[in-house]
This record gives sequence, structure tokens and C-alpha cells, in this order.
Amino acid sequence: MRFYQSGILFSMTFKIYYFLILIFSFVFCAHNLLSENNENISGYHFAEPSTQEIQNDDFLNPGILWVENGAILWKQEFGSNDLSCQSCHGKINNMKGISLKYPKVLNENNKLINLEQRINMCKKNIDKKEFDLEGKDLLSLSTLLSYQSKGLPFNYKVTEKNKKWYNLGKELYFRKIGQMGLSCNQCHNDRVGLNLRAEKVSQGQINGFPSYLLRWSKVVSVHSRLKFCNEQARAVPYEINSDEYNALQLYLSVRANGLLVESPAVRK
Ligand code: HEC
Ligand code: HEC
Repeated sequence: MRFYQSGILFSMTFKIYYFLILIFSFVFCAHNLLSENNENISGYHFAEPSTQEIQNDDFLNPGILWVENGAILWKQEFGSNDLSCQSCHGKINNMKGISLKYPKVLNENNKLINLEQRINMCKKNIDKKEFDLEGKDLLSLSTLLSYQSKGLPFNYKVTEKNKKWYNLGKELYFRKIGQMGLSCNQCHNDRVGLNLRAEKVSQGQINGFPSYLLRWSKVVSVHSRLKFCNEQARAVPYEINSDEYNALQLYLSVRANGLLVESPAVRK
């Protein structure tokens, strides 16, 4: 072999190795990036260990007091016909998986409603009165119902019927609003894992709701949390039970697919 031939051979072998390494590292990085983007992570993993401990133990978790209060209400009789939730729906275990169907589009008027609104529809049928918005009774019943689905995975489908609401929710999730011009995704997709004031930003998942917030010493609904996020980002919040928050909740439910119900979760 001539001197210059071995030189060419060397440079060719070098180039081949170089390209192989390049291809491998590209495939490896792309895989990592993709799996990072696709992975849904519960807010639990961003909470401090001391908060996680409270959630882990039903004896410590104050959210369970709402579940217990809900169980009493489930059997309580209302109105002149002495009807309880149980009179029509039977034992509470029958309601396993129901919370995962909400928000849901009503056949009558194509309106999207959440679980709390559905509970109040039944309450109104019984004695013409609704439970107070964000009140302890309403949230006790919705926490009790969500608790029946604990451990079940989110498996939300976008259908012809709810598509319009899903699209609105998605649009709202990416819409820049408020004095700071911030959208949900700028915090809950772009800043995941970073610190914001004394908090670690999570993916903003809703699998733990209704959740017990330590800062307010009470259980809150998804809509109440969204309101708080809007206020924190100096944007005008929507109303609880508004079409906008229901649409956002629907989008967030699809976004949570694969995550397990953790309600009542404990958060800061
Ligand atoms: C300025 C940043 C910011 C913006 C904008 C923002 N959030 Fe949040 N959000 C937070 C912080 C901080 C928390 C509390 C820590 C955490 O779980 O991320 C939080 C918590 C949440 C949670 C509770 C997560 C859990 O595990 O309990 C949800 C759900 C949520 N946000 C949804 C939204 C939605 C939907 C929007 C848009 C309407 C939004 N957020 C806008 C910062 C933001
Ligand atoms: C008089 C009978 C009756 C009483 C009492 C009653 N409900 Fe209902 N409830 C219904 C009917 C009927 C439906 C509609 C079922 C459907 O859409 O498949 C329903 C639906 C529901 C749903 C949604 C179920 C689903 O599959 O989407 C929930 C949650 C619920 N009720 C909670 C309650 C609670 C909480 C109470 C007590 C405050 C209560 N209900 C009292 C009759 C009743």
C-alpha cells in the first residue's frame, strides 16, 4: 500500500466512525427529548417531601376530612321527600370512575359541566336548593366522588361532541394574558422544575383535584386553582364554573391522560 493510500483509508475510516457517533448521539438525544415531552408527571413529584408525607397517609391528610364529611352527606336526607344521594345512586362505591367522566357535555343543551355542577343539578332536583359554590358541602361530595376513582388512570377522549370545548380549552391554555402577558404553557410546559417564588413549577396537572392546599387550610376545586394561577400572573380570572374554566379543565383532563387519580392530593 502506498503512503498516500493509507492516508485516504485512515481519513475514510475516521469519517465513517465520526458519522456513526453523530447519528447515535442524535438518536439518543432525540429519544430523550421526545420522552421528556411525552411524559406526564403528577404535581406530587414536585411537592416537598414533607408535603408528600402528608398526602401518603390517610390519617395525616386533612383532605380525608372532606371525604368523611362527604360520606355523611351522601346518606343525609333532603327536601320533603326525604331523598338522599344514596336513595337513587346506592352505595358510594357504585360511583367509582364517575369523576373521570367530567367535565362532560350535557345532551340537553350541549353545555359543558363539571362534577360540582352535576352534583348541584341533583341537589336542585331534590329540594330546589343548590350547595354553595366552593362551599365545604359541595367540595366534600366532589372529593368523596373523586376519591372513589383514586388510582384509576385518566383516559379522556376528544369526541365530535366535546371537540369544540377541547379546542377552546387548548386555545386558552396557550393564550397570553394579563399584565405580564403569560400563558399557562409558559409556566407549566416551559418552566417545569424551575423555582418561582418559593415554589417549584410543576406541569400543572389536575389528577390530584379536589386538592387540599396547605396555604389555605382547605380543599379547593380545579377552577379555584386556575383562578389563583390567573391572579398570581396578574390576569383577570374567569368565574368558577364558567365555560372558559370548564373548557380549560377539559383540555387539562386530556393532557393528564395516563396519570392516576390522587384526590385528595396535598399541595402547598
Ligand atoms: C406565572 C406562572 C404560572 C402561570 C402563568 C400559570 N401557573 Fe399554574 N401554577 C403555578 C405555580 C407556581 C403553581 C404551584 C406549583 C405547581 O404545582 O406548579 C401552579 C399550580 C397549578 C396547578 C396545580 C398543580 C397541582 O399539582 O396541584 C394547576 C392545575 C395549574 N397551575 C394550572 C394552570 C393553568 C391551566 C394556567 C393557565 C390558565 C396556569 N396554571 C397558569 C404557576 C403558574
Ligand atoms: C331522585 C334521584 C336522585 C337523587 C336523590 C340524586 N341523584 Fe344524582 N343523578 C340522578 C340521575 C337520574 C342522574 C343522571 C344519570 C345519567 O345521566 O346517567 C344523576 C347523575 C348524577 C351524577 C353523574 C353520574 C354520571 O354517570 O355522569 C352524579 C355525580 C350525581 N348524580 C351525584 C348525586 C349526588 C351527590 C346526590 C346527592 C346530593 C345525588 N346525585 C342525588 C338521580 C338522583
